[in-house]
Amino acid sequence: MPQLTKSAELLEKAKKFIPGGVNSPVRAFKSVGGTPIFMAKGQGAYMTDVDGNTYLDYVGSWGPFILGSMHPRITAALEHTLTKIGTSFGTPIEMEIEIAELLTQIVPSIEMVRMVNSGTEATMSAVRLARGYTGRDKIIKFEGCYHGHGDSFLIKAGSGALTLGAPDSPGVTKGTANDTLNAKYNNLESVELLVKENKGNVAAIIIEPVAGNTGVIPADKAFLQGLRDLCTREGIILIFDEVMCGFRVALGGAQERYGITPDLTTMGKIIGGGLPVGAFGGKREIMEHIAPLGDIYQAGTLSGNPLALTAGLETLKILRDENPYPELERKAACLEEGFRSNMEKLGLNYVQNRVGSMGCLFFTETPVTDYDTAVTSNLEKFGKYFHAMLDQGIYLAPSQFEAMFTSAVMTDEDLEKTVKANFVALQAAEK
Ligand SMILES: Cc1ncc(COP(=O)(O)O)c(C=O)c1O
Repeated sequence: MPQLTKSAELLEKAKKFIPGGVNSPVRAFKSVGGTPIFMAKGQGAYMTDVDGNTYLDYVGSWGPFILGSMHPRITAALEHTLTKIGTSFGTPIEMEIEIAELLTQIVPSIEMVRMVNSGTEATMSAVRLARGYTGRDKIIKFEGCYHGHGDSFLIKAGSGALTLGAPDSPGVTKGTANDTLNAKYNNLESVELLVKENKGNVAAIIIEPVAGNTGVIPADKAFLQGLRDLCTREGIILIFDEVMCGFRVALGGAQERYGITPDLTTMGKIIGGGLPVGAFGGKREIMEHIAPLGDIYQAGTLSGNPLALTAGLETLKILRDENPYPELERKAACLEEGFRSNMEKLGLNYVQNRVGSMGCLFFTETPVTDYDTAVTSNLEKFGKYFHAMLDQGIYLAPSQFEAMFTSAVMTDEDLEKTVKANFVALQAAEK
């Protein structure tokens, strides 16, 4: 068991100045118990905490680190920008064109793009654009999907909101809540019904095309195609929120993997390579309605910031040049197989969902296809499993409802170590 003396001390100190001691709720270990670990250093697939314990990292800063931490090409590029260019100008810079052009080349739906500073900003802006463009107010989202902490999205939300048992947040006005309609993931009829009941009033349907905030739930291809057809028929803007699955399940994201093109796409996480970047983009005809070209307002003091864009641009170039996706698939499949074989040996039959290098072991035997089936998971067992993995130096997200990210820098030895740890942790979960 790792000794966490310094982490515990820092937590007490942090609690005096920061609500709950953390700057994002799911970091607090509230659903699994125990002390959140203060990290001191990251390198490749590993992190070392303030007490000197080292962990194999399957959180990857909640998604961005598909290439691990401190990739030498990214740190060299950052050093160059920091020492030779500058950290911010608040004017246009050439690098903004470079990343925008690259995005149009690699993400199928993107004809024009605007850079922002987080996934939340991207989704909030995309929804405003869809509303302004269509002149309609309502949006449809899916139970358990998380689109950041914008007011419109905190109705039956996933991720930390679900982990903390607060999927509907106080502070969201009734008016806003009324404009957000919730459908069931992988259930086209539930969407068709809402569209029918709100005929001519739905501006956008926003979806994680691989749901990663209720654990991992793959979308059925026919369901996504059904959404595409429905949106085209009804003049509704289809928004793929690829903040998590973008550049992760394929270079061009879920839209490339499934071969379905949304009208708008939101991006985050990997696009910043570990620095704060988000983006939204899509059809030229829609994007041209944003200020200063159009009258739908959207802005940001630090948007297109050179330091943040450097990390993102270099990450995207490495992904494009080195194509780590087949290897990521192999590595993640190897973990899935290893876990399955462990469960067979132990007479267990828990569900594993995986799309590329996003995976999730649910402590339920019910196939997980939506929110209702995800919440059949046994959270007490997950908590024991999480701590048993941690004790063996494997750092998983401290929630049943988050993804396990395999990174390109993980070695076969790392995977073997994880599978062995899984065997022990599964036993611990059953005690
Ligand atoms: C699918 C999805 N959309 C939006 C967000 C919000 O992004 P951020 O935390 O960068 O604001 C997240 C964050 O986890 C996400 O997973």
